[in-house]
Amino acid sequence: MFFYKFTTKFQRLENLITQTIIIAMAVRQLEKGEMIPYDLLLLADPDRKLLEQYLINSWIFVLEQIETIMGVCVLQNIDNQIVEIKNIAIDENYQNKGFGKFLLENTFEIAKTKGFEKIRIGTANSSIGQIYLYQKMGFDMKEIRKNFFVENYENSIFEHNLQAKHMIVFEKNL
Ligand code: COA
Repeated sequence: MFFYKFTTKFQRLENLITQTIIIAMAVRQLEKGEMIPYDLLLLADPDRKLLEQYLINSWIFVLEQIETIMGVCVLQNIDNQIVEIKNIAIDENYQNKGFGKFLLENTFEIAKTKGFEKIRIGTANSSIGQIYLYQKMGFDMKEIRKNFFVENYENSIFEHNLQAKHMIVFEKNL
């Protein structure tokens, strides 16, 4: 069980009261038979066909708070040492509040517990925020898969008025 600390400040007449609310949050593996949060997974990967393919051989983890699924992370092993984050997403209502970082940190711990030494994640050349976030979280650029999104996705993807063409693969030692 992990805890996320929210600090909210309320201005009262003459006092500034700092109230700390502790909300229980957990990252747990989705069990067989549970609903797969496709709405979240599709935020990170708009191609349902590709998504279905890699889910078959992956572990699905969810970030949950009082029975509300706020985020998802999909892990797949490349070999005995390296694991890949195939998909990571935070519900749009909860983005930009630090939950992505929280989910990534917990994913590193899960991967270490499973015995992996390195973790990888791929993102598009157009995913500016994600490129920043992954480097901030200790990932380093490993390779560029030229035209990955052009060759593997049926529909063109655009972000920030840029076409998603190439996949940048990041890697981090655990
Ligand atoms: N643009 C700019 N900066 C961004 C960003 C974006 N799109 N997303 C995250 N960041 C930055 C934040 O500003 C923050 O920086 P700071 O620590 O310097 O303040 C840092 O990254 C962590 O942000 P956080 O609030 O933890 O991110 P998040 O909860 O929004 O989760 C994603 C990040 C990418 C998982 C989330 O935005 C998401 O689900 N996006 C849609 C799906 C997706 O693109 N998945 C990844 C596919 S590769």
